[in-house]
Amino acid sequence: MKKGLSALILAAGKGTRFKSDKIKVLHPLMGKSMLQWVVDSVERLRPDVIHIVVGYQEDLVQKSITGRKINFILQKEQLGTAHAVLSARSALRRKAQNDLLIMNGDLPLIRAETLRPLLTHHREKGNSLTFLTTDLVNPTGFGRVMLSDAKTIKIIEEKDATPAQRKLTEINVGIYLFAIKDLLEDLAQVSNTNKKGEYYLTDMIEIFARNGRKVGKHKTKNTEEIVGVNDRYELARAMDALRLRKIKSLTERGVTVCDPGSTWIDCNVKIGRDTVIYPSVILEGESVIGSHCTLYPYVHLTDTRVGKRVKLLSSSMIEQSVIQDDAQVGPFTHLRPHSVIRKGAKVGNFVEMKNTVFGRYSKAGHLSYLGDAEIQDRVNIGAGTITCNYDGIKKSITRIESGAFIGSGTELVAPVKIGKKAYVGAGSTITKDVSSEALAVSRSRQEERPGWARRKRKK
Ligand code: UD1
Ligand code: CA
Repeated sequence: MKKGLSALILAAGKGTRFKSDKIKVLHPLMGKSMLQWVVDSVERLRPDVIHIVVGYQEDLVQKSITGRKINFILQKEQLGTAHAVLSARSALRRKAQNDLLIMNGDLPLIRAETLRPLLTHHREKGNSLTFLTTDLVNPTGFGRVMLSDAKTIKIIEEKDATPAQRKLTEINVGIYLFAIKDLLEDLAQVSNTNKKGEYYLTDMIEIFARNGRKVGKHKTKNTEEIVGVNDRYELARAMDALRLRKIKSLTERGVTVCDPGSTWIDCNVKIGRDTVIYPSVILEGESVIGSHCTLYPYVHLTDTRVGKRVKLLSSSMIEQSVIQDDAQVGPFTHLRPHSVIRKGAKVGNFVEMKNTVFGRYSKAGHLSYLGDAEIQDRVNIGAGTITCNYDGIKKSITRIESGAFIGSGTELVAPVKIGKKAYVGAGSTITKDVSSEALAVSRSRQEERPGWARRKRKK
């Protein structure tokens, strides 16, 4: 009978070297926390259960991690990686016949494609323990793989290694496969007689060998995935790798990315084919962009849906909004949450919107604030139009019906409604509703004093 698989992710440690108020494994990389990357890769192996050992800020971790069949286990004190496994003992016992994939929570780059061969190797050899290794040009920070005096393999932690041992380049990745039954039998034999005074999971290799169990290693060539993120420089390196991985997958789907070096696209962002992304574009969260769009430099999108053939001109910031097909936005537009730009509309320089629906083929070319507004189709908003939506206590709605024309420099004091095809004269302050097809002007009449300047000069 085929053995089942359980998984155990170690995520209780604080991550002291991060110098952060937040636990290390919750730091985000390209739209997903470090631990979520690990959980998602492990999930692709379809384990029966994923145990996550939590300790520091355990409530935060439990709240933010999502997935199927996750079971959190509390390690009250962080006394080392073997101690973390020990705290999961009773949970593991429930599936004692399974294999167990144990993985450090700080390996966000590892893909399921790298885990699978380890599992296959482990099962083909019928091992009690198989661990993943790789050769690194710079092995600093990792445990080194070596032969003990008894010629069995063991792992020596960097802190405990001699200078000669530190030169060894085959390292322990921090991913292991155990036969659960054997692990539970021998785990209590780990001691903490080492430099850090911790219970090392890596000691299980020697212990198993001593107890006559079958131990093996599997060496992977995917060294670019082997970044154990212990400090923020390693976090930066991991981000860079995930960033380029995302860009590569987008280009494979027909997206042009002009400058991968300056483009930041979160892992969950979707982009249609023949869309072109110019340098220094940042796309965050769950943004979705259709096909045949062009995103010019310094466009910054968060959780925004963009239709087809949309042009987003330079230096625009767009948050939690919707932009429909054939619309054009920017340069220097700020769309704050819950703005909807309907099909074919144009929003231009220094226009800010918030909680505003902007109708089909409507235009707001320059220097306007449109907040809490409902603007229907083919409306023209003149330069410098301001919806006065806030009276200091509450927010009110401005409604501008189809075909209306708002002259430049107008203040619309909400709540107010401008009827269909109505005109508002430039420079007006509108405080009352304007009927359909009417012209509303509210400004003092212009007077002229002939020769006034000449007389002034003579004085
Ligand atoms: C560990 C390995 C090392 C390996 C490296 C790979 C040990 C003793 N050493 O070292 O051989 O090369 O990973 O990245 O295992 N954790 C707990 N509870 C604890 C201690 C740690 O849950 O009591 C968790 C941490 O949150 C972390 C993981 O275990 O996610 C690894 O711990 P860490 O301190 O980063 O181990 P390394 O020193 O990197
Ligand atoms: Ca580590």
